[in-house]
Amino acid sequence: MSLVQLRNIWKIFGPTPTHVLDSIKPTDSRADIQANTGHVVAVRDVSLDIAEGEIFVVMGLSGSGKSTLIRCLSRLIEPTSGDVLINGQNVTEMNETDLRDLRRNTVSMVFQRFGLFPHRRVIDNVAYGLEVRGVPAAERYAHCEDILKLVDLQDWGNHFPHELSGGMQQRVGLARALAVDPQIMLCDEPFSALDPLIRRDMQNELLHLQKTLKKTIIFITHDFLEALKLGDRIAIMKDGIVVQVGTPQQIVANPADDYVREFIQDVPRARVLTAETIMRPLANNDAASTTSVAADTTLADLIPLVAPTADPLAVVNASGLPIGTVDRASVLQALASA
Ligand SMILES: Nc1ncnc2c1ncn2[C@@H]1O[C@H](COP(=O)(O)OP(=O)(O)OP(=O)(O)O)[C@@H](O)[C@H]1O
Ligand SMILES: [Mg+2]
Repeated sequence: MSLVQLRNIWKIFGPTPTHVLDSIKPTDSRADIQANTGHVVAVRDVSLDIAEGEIFVVMGLSGSGKSTLIRCLSRLIEPTSGDVLINGQNVTEMNETDLRDLRRNTVSMVFQRFGLFPHRRVIDNVAYGLEVRGVPAAERYAHCEDILKLVDLQDWGNHFPHELSGGMQQRVGLARALAVDPQIMLCDEPFSALDPLIRRDMQNELLHLQKTLKKTIIFITHDFLEALKLGDRIAIMKDGIVVQVGTPQQIVANPADDYVREFIQDVPRARVLTAETIMRPLANNDAASTTSVAADTTLADLIPLVAPTADPLAVVNASGLPIGTVDRASVLQALASA
């Protein structure tokens, strides 16, 4: 069972959302609905399954419904219709007490503009969630010192947020979310306000942390390259609808429509696509190839291997078993087609 299950989530903003929901026909566009009813369909019939331990990226243009969707998860925004299940529990049916527990213990959030408390020291920002939980001071400070080390801010606990750079402030935001040891972290464009180089550092840091922490992270961005770098899987939203879900390789290899194709235009295909994404699956009568390559070999690394020969190479999985073949022609074709 997936850790997070979204079932037919709708969110309509306006005075009579339920009434409008009942009148919507599948062919009505978001613009039509807005023109005819004055209501905004922010999220439209979204169903997703998010597995424990994955970084799941929600990507899409401004206004496509990303923030609304992830706020529905812990009901910071009430969905107009549909169900959210976390650990098999129906969040949409939870009472106030259970919902508060969920927000304190299971789900934590990292915001775009850091959202730190300006008059609290860094350590007290990080300790906030534990303080709310009633953890005694000595215990929460000891724990938060460790968390600050994790994000490389061990010397900054006694400073105030305004004394830190943007990147450092966002690390405090990350530390605050991590301090409660949540099962799920919701990150709403956490790195968008940062300079490109700092942003890259933060992306690497998140990937590094994730290797040991193995949280379930739902990460919003409108930067497709960031989505490719961080996401185990990516959901692409347009006008409230999820138009495609897949691994970075699947999306780059097979964009669902023109909207998705726009995003992948600038993608370095050679560095994203792998042998597995472009291979011809193994058929019974395939002759055994002498040379083999790992399934996750990127095209960039395949080029020198296929260049000298027209013969196919065997693609092998993690256990060394052949699962398909690639050759010079298939690599060239994959590099060329967009
Ligand atoms: N409280 C609200 N009241 C009315 N409309 C809203 C409200 N919140 C969001 N919307 C509308 O819902 C749509 C989706 O907004 P949302 O903030 O989820 O988009 P987003 O994908 O997160 O965009 P961005 O990348 O700019 O953050 C937008 O058209 C927005 O105007
Ligand atoms: Mg948003």
